Amino acid sequence: MSETNTKKVFIKTYGCQMNVYDSDRMTDALSEHGYAPTTEMGDADLVLLNTCHIREKAAEKVYSELGRIRDFRDERGPDAKKMLIGVAGCVAQAEGEEIMRRAPAVDLVFGPQSYHRLPELVAKAGGERVIDTDFPQEDKFAHLPQPRREATIKRGLTAFLTVQEGCDKFCSFCVVPYTRGAEVSRPVAQVVAEAQALADAGVREVTLLGQNVNAYHGLNETGHSVGLGELCHMLAEIDGLERIRYTTSHPRDMDDALIAAHRDLDKLMPYLHLPIQSGSDRILKAMNRRHTAAEYLELIEKIREARPDMALSGDFIVGFPGETEADFEATLDIVKKVGYASAFSFKYSTRPGTPGAEMDGQVPEPIKAERLERLQAEINALQTAFNAGCVGMTFPVLIEKPGRNPGQVAGRSPYLQPVHIEADAGLIGQILPVEITGTAKNSLSGTIARGKARAV
Ligand code: 5AD
Ligand code: SF4
Repeated sequence: MSETNTKKVFIKTYGCQMNVYDSDRMTDALSEHGYAPTTEMGDADLVLLNTCHIREKAAEKVYSELGRIRDFRDERGPDAKKMLIGVAGCVAQAEGEEIMRRAPAVDLVFGPQSYHRLPELVAKAGGERVIDTDFPQEDKFAHLPQPRREATIKRGLTAFLTVQEGCDKFCSFCVVPYTRGAEVSRPVAQVVAEAQALADAGVREVTLLGQNVNAYHGLNETGHSVGLGELCHMLAEIDGLERIRYTTSHPRDMDDALIAAHRDLDKLMPYLHLPIQSGSDRILKAMNRRHTAAEYLELIEKIREARPDMALSGDFIVGFPGETEADFEATLDIVKKVGYASAFSFKYSTRPGTPGAEMDGQVPEPIKAERLERLQAEINALQTAFNAGCVGMTFPVLIEKPGRNPGQVAGRSPYLQPVHIEADAGLIGQILPVEITGTAKNSLSGTIARGKARAV
């Protein structure tokens, strides 16, 4: 480090795990320029909002938070130290000019492709308002600093690793292809080096991230394209790295090599987030998903043949334009057929600039709300059943941190369920067989079952 940490940065992160990863990289980039992270906004010289644009509510939250931060800054009076306010992420990318106009307190707006230039942008924002939302062709990952060892150690035993950004699928409801741009995969060597550095700093579980992660096609050193299945094989070779996960996937990109990796690699966890969005072929077509419900079910069958205990998760949108009661019932039907272990569901939110926003048959809000409630009841019932089915089983749990109460530790099952265990904090960092003895709403509880290790 060239300078001492005299300044403080406070970053508030919205939205997906890719934003969490990006916020950590921004922290790392800034710490090389004398900024230390703080969790107290009042201490900050620089406040950054890393924003999400996926649904209207997510974007609106940013403006109300900016109002609160402005008031907070104004109340500190003229003698307080200067506090710069910056907006990053997908709202910045999509409506940078609008932010500048609507929120005059903002000093700096920059999109996800500019993070490696952050220190330079912050320096400039000290004198003038700065906006940087171009899509430069340069590879930002090559310019971003590697995760800092000390910071990685502090962040714990699990880490995110972005391997791919952007999306070429253009689902008709989704802003991602516009905010994050076209699909780009990081080169294999870069990903492997980052995973190795994470493992060296004590990380035991890595989650590979991408807006469309299973479309990964990074180049190796001989210039050949490598898919996600092969990449998982390479990462599985890294000593100390015990668990690999990835998210989020598109059904069309779930190729045979990736499915086979689930059969062949113990380190690849048996949990798959594979959104279908709707169970109705008519709606899937309007959504431009490029697969039918039957094709999705066939794919699930193939995946379960390769890895019989695979837990499935998904995303659903209710009230897409033109969705009838019969279409919605097809969604309920597919949810039951797949038997999801967990799933996320959302009311359709009109995103300006996407084809969905122009479609006839926008569904009234009360109908969306009613369908969401019914869908969530179904999903919750399945999740409860899945968790209840785990009672009596013994499976390996990565012990990650102290639990809520003294004498407790907490970790995750292979199926991503949080597990609370009566055990000593000295066990943190180990992967141990745990016998599941009970369930709560969103978690399991259990006891260490020494000598009974059995991956189910
Ligand atoms: N309205 C509602 N939900 C959406 N998603 C993406 N765009 C929209 C939208 N316009 C959901 C999808 C996606 C998840 C990340 O967010 O289900 O998989
Ligand atoms: Fe958006 Fe995912 Fe569709 Fe890409 S595949 S357009 S990120 S919903």
